[in-house]
Amino acid sequence: MDIVRADDADDLGRRAARIVMATLARAPDATLVFPVGATPRGLFARLIGEHRAGRLDASRARVVLLDEYAGITRDDRRSFAAWLRRDLLQPLDITADRLLAFAPNGDRDIEGSRIEAGIAAWGGIDLAVLGIGLNGHLGFNEPGSPADSRARRVALAPETIASNARYWGRAEDVPPHGFTLGLGTLSAARRVVVLASGPAKRSIVQRLLADVPSPDLPASVAHRHPAATLIVDPDAAPPG
Ligand code: PGA
Repeated sequence: MDIVRADDADDLGRRAARIVMATLARAPDATLVFPVGATPRGLFARLIGEHRAGRLDASRARVVLLDEYAGITRDDRRSFAAWLRRDLLQPLDITADRLLAFAPNGDRDIEGSRIEAGIAAWGGIDLAVLGIGLNGHLGFNEPGSPADSRARRVALAPETIASNARYWGRAEDVPPHGFTLGLGTLSAARRVVVLASGPAKRSIVQRLLADVPSPDLPASVAHRHPAATLIVDPDAAPPG
């Protein structure tokens, strides 16, 4: 895993955008995984700016949503699919048919295989852009997730529920389950970029850099990936 130390949060977005744009320059119909959340905001802003300036045509990209809450309605504004459509896909003119996303009300036993089949039909994932959670999760692959796990329904960890409470008002209102691409799904991506931004992420980044791969730290699968890059801003970067 390569480590890139960005100059600041803005530079983190710029560097991540450069990787996305290089992927699309090589293959305009590349299959890209994106998360939502606080971390990718700078990346999204940068991509939208490039698009508005006429330097990025992402209209042929195929996008897979990293994760989703389970048990909410499809049109809930807080669904990750609605969030990604609003904040990235619509501004980039990527049409709804080019998004592969878990249905929040999807069948618990078959929704994961539906998404895996969709990814396979698109020729696999070219680039997975990921954030790291406070507890080291990738998507909703919480600690304990097997390195070879595939897309599936999972229970959210207490730290994830606490962290996402800001979007729901109270922790009690956060859906306790979700769907996520698996660590095995993400490890099969041709390229993986993990973003970490802000002081709250510093200790988990430090653990990631120190630890050998272990299911206790889901993001550590990136160590074994042949083309993984961790981009950290100074607030998230451990000294050294
Ligand atoms: P954040 O979430 O980008 O909102 O910090 C990351 C995560 O929990 O996966």
